[in-house]
Amino acid sequence: MSQAPNSLQARDKVYLVHPFTNLRAHEQQGPLVITRGEGIWVYDDEGKAYIEGLSGLWCASLGFSEKRLVEAARRQMERLPYTHTFAHRSSEPVIELAEKLVSIAPEPIAKVFFVNSGSEAIDTALKLVWYYNNARGKPEKKRIIARKRAYHGVTLAGGHLTGLAYARAGFDLPMSDRFFHLTCPSHYRDSLPGESEGAFASRLVEELDTLIRALGPETIAAFFAEPVMGAGGVVVPPKGYFEKIQPILKKYDILFVADEVINGFCRTGNMWGCQTFGIRPDLVVCAKQLSSAYLPIAAVLMSRDFYEVIAEQSARLGTLGIGYTYGGHPVAAAVALETLKIYESDRILEHVRAVTPRFQERLVRLSAHPLVGEARGVGLLGGLEIVKDKRTKEQFPQEAKAAAQIVARCLEQGLILRPLPGDVVGICPPLIIEEHEIDQLFDRLERALDAALPAMPMAA
Ligand SMILES: Cc1ncc(COP(=O)(O)O)c(C=O)c1O
Repeated sequence: MSQAPNSLQARDKVYLVHPFTNLRAHEQQGPLVITRGEGIWVYDDEGKAYIEGLSGLWCASLGFSEKRLVEAARRQMERLPYTHTFAHRSSEPVIELAEKLVSIAPEPIAKVFFVNSGSEAIDTALKLVWYYNNARGKPEKKRIIARKRAYHGVTLAGGHLTGLAYARAGFDLPMSDRFFHLTCPSHYRDSLPGESEGAFASRLVEELDTLIRALGPETIAAFFAEPVMGAGGVVVPPKGYFEKIQPILKKYDILFVADEVINGFCRTGNMWGCQTFGIRPDLVVCAKQLSSAYLPIAAVLMSRDFYEVIAEQSARLGTLGIGYTYGGHPVAAAVALETLKIYESDRILEHVRAVTPRFQERLVRLSAHPLVGEARGVGLLGGLEIVKDKRTKEQFPQEAKAAAQIVARCLEQGLILRPLPGDVVGICPPLIIEEHEIDQLFDRLERALDAALPAMPMAA
């Protein structure tokens, strides 16, 4: 038998297949192994400290050492480590969590279905939308509209909804022609020369209306959208965009499914992105900050009207034939419930609002840097669009991996960020971050940008 390698890096390379990783490059390089966390900080296996500037994957809202969440998990583990919600079964934490979630949910949400991840929530929402229209005797009303650069996960449904090529390339997707992607609402990248935000928003709404009329409103079931796009490059919609879109959806009887997987739970300066952007959703998908990511849990929230239709159909068919072994896991539910209690007791929303001006001021200041085309954000969410030429907005060639280069320099500085499609550097620190830590984060990011600059082939 061969001797097992002893460093963590070497052992990782023997057995693990990593998501979102160039596996061949990984075999050469090995992983960054994170071994512990404290507040907004994490530490690698050699003891080096990093600010977790993306909260893991936009999710560890309460940082990495919240003892109340550990306690909530321990208590529930000891009392009842597992039961489920199939076939008229339930548990205390799931009941309490559903009640709490509905009490804070955007209007007109009234009911909750628990699942385990954002992708699973998206798949479930999509299936429920189809179930709903079958129930209403509209079997032809099944097409779905999303946006380019949207990220809605990578399962089969998520892979169709996500407006990024990597979710389909090599995976035999699309399997269905029911999915359509509109122009991404990035004013910086997708507006016409001289086009104002308002005119850009109106043009995008016109595009939606034209698509709906071309396909036939009777064939379109739902519009899926993140209020602020996250993983596709932190795209903040132009002013008036969602206000103008919603009456059109209403007019054509098309559901609005708000993907709040990143936006939800205080990130944009309100409990929900829907509130920040005046959205009245029919369904909401949430995950990540629901449990501060301490355990996997996600949810599909729905309006009373939507629920009534699927409830009737389940009675006709004999059951609602969808559910997951770990959906509504009592330990995950107990941790999520405690997370929501902490948001309230520690006034996390007020804290986010108090430190946002500092975060946004430091973010916007970076737009003066030669590598930054646009610095944009809302609440404690930010993105830097990296360009070769600030004047023409020309980007670096893809093979230059400009955003990834900067993120690598950040790592040297003790800051974890993430490169996103469109050469954007994403910034999304834990919500508990203090002003002096925001300064530390941006000081490190500035040093990283400066360090990356000499190696970048800038426009003359
Ligand atoms: C907006 C959005 N929707 C869905 C997902 C998929 O969530 P998960 O990775 O938990 O499947 C993500 C993940 O980043 C996301 O950002």
